[in-house]
Formats: sequence, structure tokens, C-alpha cells
Amino acid sequence: MTRTLLWGRRATTRELHAWHRRAASIPDAPIRADALDALVHKRDNVEGASLFSILPKYRNESLLRLLVAYQVMWDFLDSVSEHGACAGQANGRQLHRALVEALDPEAPISDYYRHHPWKDDGGYLRALVETCRRSCARLPGYRQVRPLILRGVRDCAIQSLNHEREPSRRDVALKEWAEREFADEHGLSWFERTAAAGAFMPHVLLALAAEPSCKQEEVDAVYSAYFPWVSLTISMLDSYIDRADDTASESHSYISHYATEAAALERLAAIIRRIVSHAPGLPNGRRQAVLTEGIIAMYLSTAGVNTPSTRESTRMLARAGGSLTRVLLPIARAWRVARTRQTTSKENKCSPNGFPPGLPLPPTILTYVYWRWPFEYMKLCQTRYGRCFTHRMTSFPQLVFLSDPAEIRTMLAAPAEVLHPGEGGEKITPIVGTSSFMLLDEDEHLAGRRAVLPALAKRTIGRESERVAEIVRRSTASWPRDVPLPLHPRLRALTLEVILRRIFGWREPWSESGLSALRDSVLTMLGITGNVVFPLPILRHGPGRTVWEHFLEYRSATDELIRALIDERRETTAAGREDALAMLLAARNTDGSPMTHSQLRDNLMSLILAGHETTASQLAWAFQLLAHNPPAQTRLIEEIDENAGDEYLTATIQEVLRHRPVFLFAIPRAVKRPIEIGAWTYRPPAHLLACIYLLHHDPDIYPEPERFRPERFLEGQPSPYMWLPWGAGRKRCPGSHLAMLEMKTVLRTVFESTTVSPASRHMERPRWRSVIVTPHAGSRVVLRRREREPQGLRTAPWRNCKETVL
Ligand code: HEM
Repeated sequence: MTRTLLWGRRATTRELHAWHRRAASIPDAPIRADALDALVHKRDNVEGASLFSILPKYRNESLLRLLVAYQVMWDFLDSVSEHGACAGQANGRQLHRALVEALDPEAPISDYYRHHPWKDDGGYLRALVETCRRSCARLPGYRQVRPLILRGVRDCAIQSLNHEREPSRRDVALKEWAEREFADEHGLSWFERTAAAGAFMPHVLLALAAEPSCKQEEVDAVYSAYFPWVSLTISMLDSYIDRADDTASESHSYISHYATEAAALERLAAIIRRIVSHAPGLPNGRRQAVLTEGIIAMYLSTAGVNTPSTRESTRMLARAGGSLTRVLLPIARAWRVARTRQTTSKENKCSPNGFPPGLPLPPTILTYVYWRWPFEYMKLCQTRYGRCFTHRMTSFPQLVFLSDPAEIRTMLAAPAEVLHPGEGGEKITPIVGTSSFMLLDEDEHLAGRRAVLPALAKRTIGRESERVAEIVRRSTASWPRDVPLPLHPRLRALTLEVILRRIFGWREPWSESGLSALRDSVLTMLGITGNVVFPLPILRHGPGRTVWEHFLEYRSATDELIRALIDERRETTAAGREDALAMLLAARNTDGSPMTHSQLRDNLMSLILAGHETTASQLAWAFQLLAHNPPAQTRLIEEIDENAGDEYLTATIQEVLRHRPVFLFAIPRAVKRPIEIGAWTYRPPAHLLACIYLLHHDPDIYPEPERFRPERFLEGQPSPYMWLPWGAGRKRCPGSHLAMLEMKTVLRTVFESTTVSPASRHMERPRWRSVIVTPHAGSRVVLRRREREPQGLRTAPWRNCKETVL
């Protein structure tokens, strides 16, 4: 068996290399990114699938090729359909056909990309399907397993429902499916049934079919052992491993359907015990037992479930897996460590200092150039060095800019202990303090993040719309008309009022709650972020000393106001409150203790900073872009006047977020352990950053990227890794629902009564405010009152302007 295992590993590596070469030449960038990412990131799945090649008595090349190709295709389609979720369920179903037809050599081949936003994969998917079909046809017992396999694989289409982001809609759909399609013969709950169906594995039946003497009763016995039990175990183990990431990114997690964590673990342990005790009784029982316990050990050896907070539960599951699992677990862990080391020892290919190339200028000059001309600098580097280059700054380790979608995905999905985004955000420490959850990593970050998520959840924000509209109406009514007007300071005051209300609540009147004093103090204090002493700490001791001292003074004053608000709240009842302060006061640290005062202060300040500067700057860009693009403005006003929903408004905001993302890059990730991405292995102290700006201006993804054209978002939605204004993964912006509500409300309110024309011929250039960019002159525009024409705007004061290409 050991020799077969070694043979299987070598053959799997060979097959994977061949698929990797093919994937690298896929013409459409989004599909290429999905294919490469699945190959790099989900390699464990393929290696797990190829283990089934040990089941037959004799080695079988066709079986191994089939197992590898099928798993590669499965993982690839999982990503492709998730990222094409915007194309609707028809797209998911059409793509899913590939999984069925790959195992049905006689079926006609469909057009899998019929509903998908991208289509040209250079024949990659078809090659995978045909490889599987050819291999199936060579398995002697295939006819016997075919009906069961096709039924199981068809039911896997249920997977696509998991990509539905709205939890209530998703759960209803999954429950309905389970009740309709999957009779409860085994005492499983609805979510266990859907979990098992979504993880149906044809592998074991394919392995049986490789035996020339495959008997029907053996097929039936293996089928009923694996389905639903082994499938359910795999689905739940997968969910157990990813639960922290799933919670952070608000993705569906099967394991969190159980009432408590203890109940989930108990149930999972019982299911594991069941499959382990049944395995030896199956045909070829010894190998089945090794395989089953090997799979459990592989899952439990994942680094994410070996942290201090998960170690005890992982041990408990390993005990349920039996003696072989316990023996195999350290071996699987050692194997993972060896694989990481092997990756590390690979020499970097192009640069003697271990970093991609970058402009060969002193860090001081590069820091200044990037600060002054960020767009031009990034584009120049990309033209010279491609989608990956290094930027050297004073007072910061080397920053590697990534703008290839596949590389960005690999980076953003890396385990929490490999890349530390918290550490990468240290630039804002003077404002948010050292105990802000935004600057922490791993479990501590998650604990803080979890505490604030409910206050920013979609459902909670939905209930705020009328209050936000009230603030917007009141603020915008006072904006002067017919004169050039910088909107950014007004937008900051507005968005700050909204976030302060979200944090401290609505119960007390604005003037009496100390919030208006806090707003004024924060506005003054954050004036620092537009000053050059902020990005260049060295100046704080020289010419920028006075500016810095002022900042420190205002910070103390702001802290005092926050302290008073916290103390006041501690004295009153928190019952029924769903504001962020109430959530933070109720939250517990990883050791069970409540948050200290400085933790509360730092987390509140983080929400204040992240929750208003961003939205205000994004709106400032929106007004610049709409003022300089009359056709888009006209169409938006028509939609508002006709009361025709908010399709174009949403597309306009999406295009603003694409064209002028306020974050030019997601928070830099500090490399803690070596990680291979693309052609490079990065090591500490490098910092990696996903360059949102370059990604959003990639002509392969967005044709004519410099044009402001909201229509592109009506024609199709890009995959999540092609459009990253909110970042992704564990750090994905938790405030996106609030930001969208504010942006929609402000734009609708302003354009209901006014038009916006530019105050100068050119769009304003970017100017840094801490880690985001804003229009340098504060987004100066002229607002003109207009007569509302319910049947659509017939004339526009800017009608002589041409659409601007920016
Ligand atoms: C248009 C407005 C906004 C944009 C474009 C934006 C964008 C972003 C981005 C790109 C990140 C980093 C994600 C990453 O590195 O992967 C982020 C993080 C964050 N955003 Fe937003 N954001 C906006 C509004 C808001 C609002 C209104 C809030 C409300 C409090 C908010 C709270 C946060 C927080 C707390 C984080 C850090 C999350 C963590 O550390 O886990 N943001 N945002």
C-alpha cells in the first residue's frame, strides 16, 4: 500500500503540473484567476481525492488521472460559479452540467459558459471534462456505478445555493430543497442533509469501478456507507476548519447551524465515530479504514484548527477518529510543515534580493513620488515591471504591490497566521491606538471584529434608513447653491454624524448627548491626516513638530469626550440597544474578560475613523465623476425623477468605487511565514498589498478602464476578486452596508433637487488622508437648483459639455 501511495503522489504532481500549464494560458483573466487559484489553493483537495487510487488491488493510471481531473474541475467550478453568482442561478446550473457530463461519457457536451460573464477559457473546462469521460470509459465496472454517481453528482448542484449572501433566503432555499429531494431516512437535520448532498464524492465509486470484479452488492454497501455519512463528515470538517474565516467574511457555515459550539463538536465526533467503525466492514475494508482515518487526519492537521483556542476541540475530534487517526495526525502535520519548508527553499527566480523589481530610486524619493502622484507612479511601475513590483518607503518594510487577480486571491485567502493584516495597518496607530481590533491579528482580531459585526450587519442597517435620510436631508439643505463649493468637508461632517449615531445610539437628542462636541473635536483632530507629517514620522520631530503637537492636544480632548460617553453609558441601562458601544461593552476577549477602557476607546475610535473618512471621500469622488460626466448624471437624474428603482444609482456607485477607490490598496498584509505567490516566495519582513487601483484599471477586466461608465455594471457583475473596493477575506469591510446606504441616500437627495457641474475643467487629483485618497481641492463643484421634471430630465444646464475621459 505504501508503494501505491508514493506512486499516486508522484503521478498526482505530474498531472497537476500539466493542468497548471494549461490554466496559465487561459485567455480570459477572471477565468484564468479562478483556475490558477483553485490549483494552488485547493491542492490538498486534489491530493485527498487521489488517495482513493489506493483502493483497487492494482494500480490504475486511468483512475488516478480521472480523480485528479475531476477534483481539479470541481474546485475550479466552485470558484467560477461563486464569482459568477451575479449571473444568477441559471449560470450555476449551467456550469454544474460539466460535473455531470464529465462522468457520463455518452451525454452530449453543453455550452457551460452560456450564462457566465466570461467565456474564453481556451478549452480548459472542456479538456477537463473530456479527460474524465475518456478515463471513465476505461474503467471496467463503470456501468455498475454510473446511475448512483450521476444521481449524486446531480444533487450536488445544491452547492450553488450556498453562494446566496442573504442568510434568510439561502436557508429557506436549502431547507426547501432538503424537504423536497432528500427524505430523512437517517435522522439528519435539513442542514445536515444539504451539507451531505453538496459534498457527494463519486471518488469511492469510481475506485470500485476500477476493479474488474466489481459486484453490485459491493457498490450498494459502499454507497450507503459513504452517502450520506462520509460526505456529511467531510462537509462538516471543512466547515469546522473554515468557520473563523466564514464568520469574518459572512459566508455560509454549516457547522454554525448547530445550537452551540459544544453541540456541533459532539455531533461531529459522533458522526466521525460512526464512519470509522463502519469502514472495516466494507469491501477491501483495511484500505477503506486507512483511507477514512487518513482523510480525518488530513483535515485535522490544518494549521487553522491547531491554534490555542481550537487545539482542545481538535484533539477531541481526533480521539473520535480512532487510533489510526491519532497516529496519522502528527504525520500529516509534519508533512504540511515539510511542504511549506520545501516551498521556502525554492530559489526566487528573478531578483537577487528576494523581491520583485521596483524603481531603483532612494526610498525618500520613492515615498515622495508615491505620495504626490500615486496613480502615475503605480501605472509607471506596472508598465515597467508588470503586475507585481516592489515599492520601498522610508519607515516601512518593502511593500510588494500585487495586481494579478489570481495572486491577489491567493494572498487574501492565506491563513491568518501566515499573513498579518493587523500589523500592516500600523500607520493609523496614532489615531486608533494599539489595542484596536483593526491592528490585531488572528483570534484577537476576530474577537473584536465579531463584537462590532452585528452593529453593522445588513439587517440592522436596513432599519436605519429613515434616520440616515433625515440627517442627509438636514445637512444637504444648508449647502449653498450656484457658487463653487468644496463638498468634502460637508460630507465629512455628515458621515461623521451618521457613524457617531450608529456607535452611540439615537436615544439622546444630538445637541445634548455630547456627540456634537465629539464630532467637532474629531473633525479638527483628523485634519492631521491630510498633512505630510502623517505619512512621514521623521518630520514630526523637525518642521512638522507644531502640527504634530496640535494633533496630540486634540487627541487628548477627543479621548476625554469619548471617556465621558462611555462612563455615562455604563451608568444607564443597555437593554434593547443595538448600537456599537452596547455591543463592545457586552463583548468578551479571547480569555473571557470584558474590554478594558483603552480597548473600548481604541475600538470606538477605529469605527469612527473607518466609518466616516472613507464614505465622505468616496462621495467626494462620486460628485467629481458625475460633475465631469453629464450623460451619466442625466441618466441618474432620469431614474430618480421617474422613481424607477435604484438600478442605475447602484451601478453608478459601483463604478465610482471602481474608478476612484478611496483605498488604493487593501490593508497591507505583513508576511509572518514564507508564502509562495506566483513566481515569488515572500518572507518576513515583506508586506504584501492587493492593489485595488491597478486591479480596477486592468483593461483585460474592464475595457476602457479610464472611462466612467456605470453601464458596465448593468451589463454584468465582475467576480469578487476583480472588484475589491471593500477588500476581502477576514478584513473585508464590515461597514459596506452602511456606506452603501449613505452613498445612495446622499446622491438621491442631492440629485432630486439639484444638478452638479464641475468647478474646474479637470477632475481633481488625489490627495492622501491617512491611508485613503480624496479629491485634492475638496471636490469643488457648483450645485444648481433645478425644476423637477417627473417625466425625465429634458434639458440639462451642462448640455454643451462632452463626456469626459478621465
Ligand atoms: C465607501 C466607504 C468605504 C470603503 C470604500 C471601505 C473600504 C474598506 C477597505 C478596503 C477595508 C480593508 C479591507 C481589506 O484590507 O481587505 C476596510 C476595512 C474596514 N472598514 Fe471600511 N470602507 C468604507 C466604509 C466603512 C464604514 C461606513 C465603516 C463603518 C464602521 C467601515 C468600517 C471598516 C472597518 C472596521 C474595517 C477594518 C475591518 C477589520 O479590521 O477586520 N468602513 N474598509
